Amino acid sequence: MSNIVVIGTQWGDEGKGKVVDVLAETARFIVRFQGGNNAGHTMVVDGEPFISHLIPSGILRPNKVCLIGNGVVVDPGVLIEEIRHLRDRGISLDPDNFLISENAHLIMPYHKLIDHGRERLKGDKKIGTTGRGIGPCYEDKVTRRGIRFCDLINPEIFQQKLSSILGEKNLYLKDFLKSETVDKAAILEEYLPYANALRPHVANVSVLISQAVKAGDHVLFEGAQGTHLDIDHGTYPYVTSSNTVAGNACCGAGIGPTQIHGVIGMVKAYTTRVGRGPLPTELHDEIGDRIQQKGAEFGATTGRRRRCGWLDMVVVRNSARINSLTGLAITKLDVLSGIENLMICTAYRYKQDRLTEFPSALGVLEECEPIYEELPGWSEDITAIQDVDDLPENARTYVKRIEELVETPVQIISVGPGRNQTIVLQNPFGSI
Ligand code: GDP
Ligand code: IMO
Ligand code: MG
Repeated sequence: MSNIVVIGTQWGDEGKGKVVDVLAETARFIVRFQGGNNAGHTMVVDGEPFISHLIPSGILRPNKVCLIGNGVVVDPGVLIEEIRHLRDRGISLDPDNFLISENAHLIMPYHKLIDHGRERLKGDKKIGTTGRGIGPCYEDKVTRRGIRFCDLINPEIFQQKLSSILGEKNLYLKDFLKSETVDKAAILEEYLPYANALRPHVANVSVLISQAVKAGDHVLFEGAQGTHLDIDHGTYPYVTSSNTVAGNACCGAGIGPTQIHGVIGMVKAYTTRVGRGPLPTELHDEIGDRIQQKGAEFGATTGRRRRCGWLDMVVVRNSARINSLTGLAITKLDVLSGIENLMICTAYRYKQDRLTEFPSALGVLEECEPIYEELPGWSEDITAIQDVDDLPENARTYVKRIEELVETPVQIISVGPGRNQTIVLQNPFGSI
């Protein structure tokens, strides 16, 4: 038995959904532990794309159990829509294979209005959130005013909690944000049917994971976002509102750190970012546009164009330390085919200094200039390659250089969006 966490090392969209779907072949339980439907994870199976926002990316495989941990914030309407969509496409989803923690917090209509209202008020200084109510929901969780799934499935408690919070929310919405307000009866009318639909799926997820571990099943923890969007370790305030790092797999699922045996850091072969905030290696030229187009870099949740830049190893090394990575999964290597010379950022120039560690102060980061190392590119199409030895020599050198700079072994190389376009050098679950 081993339990593995998959997290993003950059600013999200590294291909976590794809790699989780690949690794789910070996795992029996797949668990989301933070974030919400700000995430958009894409899997492509037999040419068919599936995008999941809340349901773990193991759901496409038979005989797997997918769990939403207590650390996730769940918009029940979005979840029900996602369940319906998957069922329409022939995926079975019932309480045998999909469960939600009774401690997971609910995204409420006022969270979404607050998210939008605040962004509107901030004008140029907006974060560029996904507008899904993620920050305001986590805020209520931390200030102990949140509503959880165990409350939702008990109509009396749900009504009480709602009544106790609505006065304050409406005052804030109306007077401060100059936004529309919410109505208790309308929320009850919307949410009570959600309670009925989801009640059979609500469970004690921590207990289920503990039983799985005892039974010797492999558990795969699926991160959302990326380390540089982490509320503590990211480019604050241009971050999301949860801890996206591997350590939070424990808090967000209800398991102790001694039960985690490996952490896979997802590294896109270049860098992207959606929304605002610094991106030191951002390209504002033809190569940036080419990567954006070839990589189809549009947000899976909001459809926004992703900003693109060269691979930033200051960022990836920062993630290796914070997450104690045991392996790397490199994705989208195929997107770099045809670029004559590739740049890897190995340090930053800040005024007269050479920085090798990621700076915390936003003002410093904004003034950092990347220091690049140049590597020769390759022109071959690599999307059908199944064996690392068949990769062009320069592609192998690129991968090797990443491995050297992070001092962590590359275990997976992805050369296309499809499940089969994956070179597994070493299965993180070990030999099974
Ligand atoms: P996630 O949020 O980390 O799961 O990543 P997203 O799904 O938001 O974005 C990754 C995008 O790249 C998706 O459209 C994937 O289908 C696609 N993708 C994943 N791996 C590869 C790869 O190796 N090559 C190419 N060309 N596309 C990939
Ligand atoms: P996956 O799991 C990329 C970004 C938003 C915004 C910031 C805060 O698909 O990698 P939020 O709505 O969370 O308050 O927005 O975080 N963001 C993501 N960027 N991938 C994601 O998820 C993201 N989830 C949030 O664009 O900049
Ligand atoms: Mg995504």
